[in-house]
Amino acid sequence: MTKGYEIIEHSYDVVVVGAGGAGLRATFGMAEKGLKTACLTKVFPTRSHTVAAQGGISAALGNMGEDDWRFHMYDTVKGSDWLGDQDAIEYMCREAIPAVLELEHYGVPFSRTADGKIYQRAFGGMSTHYGKAQAQRTCAAADKTGHAILHTLYQQALKHHAEFFIEYIALDLIMQDGECRGVLAWRLDDGTLHLFKAQQTVLATGGYGRSYFSCTSAHTVTGDGNAMVLRAGLPLQDMEFVQFHPTGIYGSGCLITEGVRGEGGYLTNSEGERFMERYAPSAKDLASRDVVSRAMTIEINEGRGVGKLKDHIYLHIEHLDPAIIHERLPGIAETSRIFAGVDVTKAPIPVLPTVHYNMGGIPTNYKAEVVTLEGDNPDKVIPGLMAIGEAACVSVHGANRLGSNSLLDLVVFGRSAAIRCAELVQPGSPHKPLNKDACDKALARFDRIRNARGSRSCADIRLAMQRVMQAQAAVFRTDRTLQEGIQSMADISQSFADVGVKDKSLIWNTDLVETLELENLLAQAQVTINAAGNRTESRGGHAREDFPQRDDANWMKHTLTWLDNGKVNIAYRPVHMYTLTDDVAVIPPKERVY
Ligand code: FUM
Repeated sequence: MTKGYEIIEHSYDVVVVGAGGAGLRATFGMAEKGLKTACLTKVFPTRSHTVAAQGGISAALGNMGEDDWRFHMYDTVKGSDWLGDQDAIEYMCREAIPAVLELEHYGVPFSRTADGKIYQRAFGGMSTHYGKAQAQRTCAAADKTGHAILHTLYQQALKHHAEFFIEYIALDLIMQDGECRGVLAWRLDDGTLHLFKAQQTVLATGGYGRSYFSCTSAHTVTGDGNAMVLRAGLPLQDMEFVQFHPTGIYGSGCLITEGVRGEGGYLTNSEGERFMERYAPSAKDLASRDVVSRAMTIEINEGRGVGKLKDHIYLHIEHLDPAIIHERLPGIAETSRIFAGVDVTKAPIPVLPTVHYNMGGIPTNYKAEVVTLEGDNPDKVIPGLMAIGEAACVSVHGANRLGSNSLLDLVVFGRSAAIRCAELVQPGSPHKPLNKDACDKALARFDRIRNARGSRSCADIRLAMQRVMQAQAAVFRTDRTLQEGIQSMADISQSFADVGVKDKSLIWNTDLVETLELENLLAQAQVTINAAGNRTESRGGHAREDFPQRDDANWMKHTLTWLDNGKVNIAYRPVHMYTLTDDVAVIPPKERVY
């Protein structure tokens, strides 16, 4: 009993935090290998945000024409604006093919070609023959691919008797002697606290899209694992790289899949011009997301936006056969009707670049082990701690992720974490003893926030943060906007000391949940905007108007950010410019031509 809280203890070989695509793939992979595995999740597994992924999962299956995993690797390195680690990218693109076939065998109901193969659509930045032609590489289950994959993975987890702890909020990592020993969590339905001791703790807690005002992410996407890592005194990597998806519905931010453009959709400005032909003469509307989002923003800024306020862009599919829309894009037709009042067979969809994905996160190697910089060693492994999925920065996406490489990242590195855990952990091996005060720091934070009696509401502080991030860490950035944003975010973060939580109960206290999540978001917003202010070049999702060129001489490196009592400290790790095997040559930096 500490601070009046009773803690229920559990012992596992592995604990996975998060039950999205990565968390579920890791969980049943570990259970399958005989490891006693617990999966903690703050929402019911099939409500995890992976369920919202639409367009598909990439793999060079070659079902719709010639393809090769090396082409996929080239596209991913190029799409990352040469900030991706090439060993990890090779691993992901090679493993993509067996990973997707494995999903098919598990039962994912992929859409089919006439001859019964998995249907693959065109997506941005995906080419054959090293940029020569558009690839059709994105395996789709209509426009509900994440939904299909998540449900199948959950079924596999049940089949392998993985143990789930549902509606448990992970509070903090339990660190001792530089190792992770487990995690402390709060069970919402009865208010009890739980210590999960584990030989390996795997963070699969997703991104932090909700630090922005307009995003495609669910309200639960608050990067809880990233924030736990910062509180454990460990760094996050490449947090300045935030992806804006070109086609969020104007007003609501709901995702309209890139698959729409893959099926022949296109963007126009107020003059009815297909402006992407000017910005990316070859790839046009299927250039990578950073390129399309910037082009749309320029069109709006130069007065060629559509609508009364000329502040958005039109996405057209009314020229497509309604039967194709019905078969391949039923979800976006429904979303457009509900959130934009548009019948997509008759009128264009109003869209705007919207925050969609965090390339940055917890630095890991391709085996999913968390790494940090220690002295001269940029790849020091933190024993007992792993990260996967959007929470992790492997880094396969570098400065910009290609569409449909995210679902892939989830399953490939979820599986890789399971393989590594099986190598590292002897099932049932005893846990090292924990100090008596092992949970005190985590409990003190929980208790402080629960009993906070300040004058500011969680909602007020959250809105202030989201407005600053949306305006000052946007598609285009300058030193002036970023420095203003850094100061504002420091002030807003400080204002959290004056937050008040009205509900003091422990059972389904959503006021407390949201306030804990807000503290997590604030930490990530701070390191994001500071890292953005620090990087004086343009690369991928980080576009500086005052430094418009990519600067490989000075900035071909990963940013590491620590948060120490409100102060952001920065250092760097080198980019892995080497591959895992001799099958593929290291790809040197080149200009990105679309
Ligand atoms: O546009 C989409 O369907 C999103 C896919 C992705 O982010 O990978």
